[in-house]
Formats: sequence, C-alpha cells, structure tokens
Amino acid sequence: MKITKICCIGAGYVGGPTMAVIAKKNPDIKVTIVDINADRIAAWNDNDLSKLPIYEPGLAEIVKETRGKNLFFSTEIDKAIDESQMIFISVNTPTKTYGKGKGMAADLKYVELCARNIAKVATTDKIVVEKSTLPVRTAQAIKSILDNTGSDVNFEILSNPEFLAEGTAIQDLLNPDRVLIGGASEDAIESLANIYGSWVSQDKILRTNVWSSELSKLTANAFLAQRISSINAISELCEQTEADVNEVAKAIGMDSRIGPKFLKASVGFGGSCFQKDILNLVYIARSYNLQAVADYWEQVIILNDHQKRRFSDHLISTLYNTVSGKKIGFLGWAFKKDTNDTRESAAIYVADHLLNEQANVVVYDPKVSNEKMQSDLNYLNTRSEEENSKLVKATETPYEALKDAHAVAIMTEWDEFKTYDWKRIYTEMKKPAFIFDGRNILDKSEMEKIGFEYSSIGK
Ligand code: NAD
Ligand code: UGA
Repeated sequence: MKITKICCIGAGYVGGPTMAVIAKKNPDIKVTIVDINADRIAAWNDNDLSKLPIYEPGLAEIVKETRGKNLFFSTEIDKAIDESQMIFISVNTPTKTYGKGKGMAADLKYVELCARNIAKVATTDKIVVEKSTLPVRTAQAIKSILDNTGSDVNFEILSNPEFLAEGTAIQDLLNPDRVLIGGASEDAIESLANIYGSWVSQDKILRTNVWSSELSKLTANAFLAQRISSINAISELCEQTEADVNEVAKAIGMDSRIGPKFLKASVGFGGSCFQKDILNLVYIARSYNLQAVADYWEQVIILNDHQKRRFSDHLISTLYNTVSGKKIGFLGWAFKKDTNDTRESAAIYVADHLLNEQANVVVYDPKVSNEKMQSDLNYLNTRSEEENSKLVKATETPYEALKDAHAVAIMTEWDEFKTYDWKRIYTEMKKPAFIFDGRNILDKSEMEKIGFEYSSIGK
C-alpha cells in the first residue's frame, strides 16, 4: 500500500525527531504527531524554535523546514488516527511503579490505551507500528485488542524499534546502522520499508518476524549497557593497580572483535532506557523461570548502581569524611552531553547521596533548568521538597556554581566544560580544591599544575 498519511502517537524524544526526519525525507507524506500533553504540543508548535520541548542538534532546522508543510503537531488524536493509514505508537513505557512486576516490568498501560483508542476510532484498515520499546510478545496483546472491536477493519501490526541515541538523534536517524521491521504481513512490511527507503538503502532495512524484532531492541540495549558496566568494573580494578582505564579500553578496543565504541568509563550510565529495558529483560526471563539468564543481566544494573555509589563515597571520604555544610559544585545534570534529558541521570543519585550527608549542591548545566533538577530529586522522595530546594540550587554560569566550592564534581561530559578558565575556578574555590571528574574529560597533569587535587574514574 502506498502510504500518504501517517500519525504518530507520542510527541516525545523518539516520536518528535523520528517523525520530523520521516517528514523531511518524504515530502509527499502528511505526518501528524499527536499527544495528550497539550503543553508539549504547544511547545512543538512554538514559533520560537528554541522553545521546542526537546533539544537535539539539527532538530530545530528540520522542524522549521517541514512544520506546517507536511509535519503537524496536534492534540486531536482521534482525528489523526482516523485519517491515517499507518499509526506509530511511540509513547513512554516506563518501569512499573505499582502492583505485580513493580520496579522491574515495563508499564504497558499507555501502549494499551493507544491500542484501545485506535480500536475505537478506526473505520478504515490500518498498519499499527510499535515504535516504543516493548517486551517480547506485546504485539500479541495489541493484536488481540484490535481484533476484538466487532468491526471489519483489518489491522496489521509491525514492530519497528528505534535505535537512536539522544544528543545524536538526527544523525542516527539520517544514517542508521540498520532499520528493523518485524511483522507477519509482507505488504505491511514493504509499506514501511518504502518510507525508510526514501533515504536508507534497502540492504540496511532488516525484515524479521515480530518477536525477533521486539526482542532485538531489548537485547541491543542490554549489550550496550553491559559494555559500560564491564569497563566500569575494570575501572575500579585500575584504581587499585595503577593501570589506566583509558589505556586498557584503547588496547582492548583495537581488537576488531571487541571494537572501540562504548568503552568510556564513567560515573555510571543514565538515560531513560538502559536500566528500564534491562530490568524488563530480567523480569521477562524470570517470568519464563530462566533464573540464570535473569541473574546474568541483572548484574549490569547492580554494577552500575555500585559505580554511582562509589563515586559519591569517594568524594565524601576524600573531603575528610564529611560534606556537611560544604558547597559541592556540579558541572552537568543531563545524563549525557548535548541533551536536556535528565532521566535516570547519575547526577541525580550522586546528588541524593551527598544531600543525605547534608552537602549543599550547586549545579550548572547548559541545558537543564533548576525546576527540572528539583523535580528529579523530589521524584526520589528521599526528603521534603522544601529541603531539596534549600540544599540544591542551579546557577546561570559555571563560575557561580564553583565559587567558594570545596569540590567540583563533573557529572556530564559537555564539551564546554573543557574550555573553562580553570585557573580562575581554582582561585575562587576553597583550598584544597578538589576535582572529581566523573567523565574523564579534563587533563590530570594540567589540573594538578594549576593546583587542583584531581581524581577521575579508573586511573
Ligand atoms: P517520552 O516520555 O519523551 O514521550 C512519550 C510521549 O507519549 C509523552 O509526551 C506522553 O504524553 C505521550 N503519551 C503517553 N500516553 C499517551 C496516549 N495514550 N496518547 C497520546 N500520547 C500519549 O518518551 P520517549 O523517550 O520518546 O520514549 C518513547 C518510547 O521509545 C519508549 O518506549 C522508549 O523506551 C523508546 N525509546 C526511547 C529512546 C530515547 O532515546 N528516548 C530511544 C529508543 C527507544
Ligand atoms: C541508548 C542507546 O545508545 C540507543 O541505541 C537506544 O536507542 C536508546 O538508548 C534507547 O533505547 O533509549 P541513549 O540512552 O540516548 O541511547 O544514550 P547513550 O549514548 O547510549 O548513553 C547512555 C548512557 O551511557 C549515558 O549516561 C552515557 O553517558 C553513558 N555511556 C555511554 C558511558 O558511560 N560510556 C560509554 O562509553 C557510552
């Protein structure tokens, strides 16, 4: 079927950039992104492109080029479903916070609501595409909802997981390593493959059965996160043995079977997906009674929690075992550079630990607001909102955050951090002035020459 109208439910980090690129590369397809969050839709429609709800390099330019031509943002969900031949479900699938599977399983209520909405509204045949990351066999549940509407509308379900990373979303979408489409209907698969075919070569468009596609997404994230936990585990051993984790990473990465990417030791991985998807994988394995499989993957998360905790423990013990009343300047709050996303950022957990020790945390992040930092901490429910707002402050400049600080903790690898006037920062800090570089972005000997007490990960 030649597709001319697409709708995407969910105007988030995936729905927004993905559909913007599809619209750019398919000017003859009308793409409508819908969301129940009216504020988010209003922000996507804002004339001031700096107000888009998501910061991604290159995104604003594409929105500028396509919005109002063949890309639309709307809260009229039913209308968009009704008029589209293909509907992407790109809603959030967070870890469940209640009931069976609490803290482990993916919460599929938003996905199910979408399926029920499509079932209610559709009067013509639809291809429904799972874009959200979902537990293997979710398509079965979606199909069952869609097939029980009592109407004779035909629904084909495809799985088309997204592999973009935040901060590089547009580049990842424009030049994907592969596009994965799982399904049972060849026609439906080819309809979607044609859309991607506008800019992705056919040999990179992988067709599989729907279950392989669903499971490949969880597996890809599990493997990626496992590499980080593996190098982070080695970083702790490096610190005991005078080995340097960067040198070890380089040495192993030159083995073409291992490869050089995703071997940067850090304060721990964050982001909305690695932890959620691995917990989900562990939960699925347990639900099939595969204890050894579940325990194996769970270790990736346990090691990551350990890495965050040992960073803050090391900071506290270096500051003479107390940070009470001390100003700790954070550089970065986002879970990685070039994004305003803070979900599961290591900074949140390190700050929480330091706040338990009564530290004053003052943060500078080029893209994250004070309001967001407060809501991240409040979400943990460790202490009252008043206490969080008293103990944590955001500043407009890095120099304010670090003035009179006892220590700097580098939590995100923003490039600009490397270019700061570190001599000025040193002069303005309390002495001894400590740097805890959770991203290994500064030069140890340069910092020591200035006078800092510098420590990093795995050295
Ligand atoms: P998000 O929270 O940024 O966006 C989801 C949007 O869906 C929200 O704006 C929400 O209001 C909307 N929504 C929820 N229920 C709805 C409903 N019933 N009707 C209409 N709108 C509804 O989430 P995201 O980061 O874009 O992630 C979406 C999915 O993609 C998740 O399954 C995630 O695991 C997966 N994924 C995310 C990334 C990433 O980098 N963030 C990458 C690959 C895959
Ligand atoms: C990750 C995957 O890379 C994407 O392929 C996937 O689509 C996405 O999850 C998802 O499903 O949500 P993302 O979380 O946006 O993308 O960003 P990454 O670049 O993977 O970084 C994740 C975390 O790992 C960050 O906190 C980052 O700083 C950390 N990291 C990454 C390291 O500590 N070391 C590394 O070598 C690489």
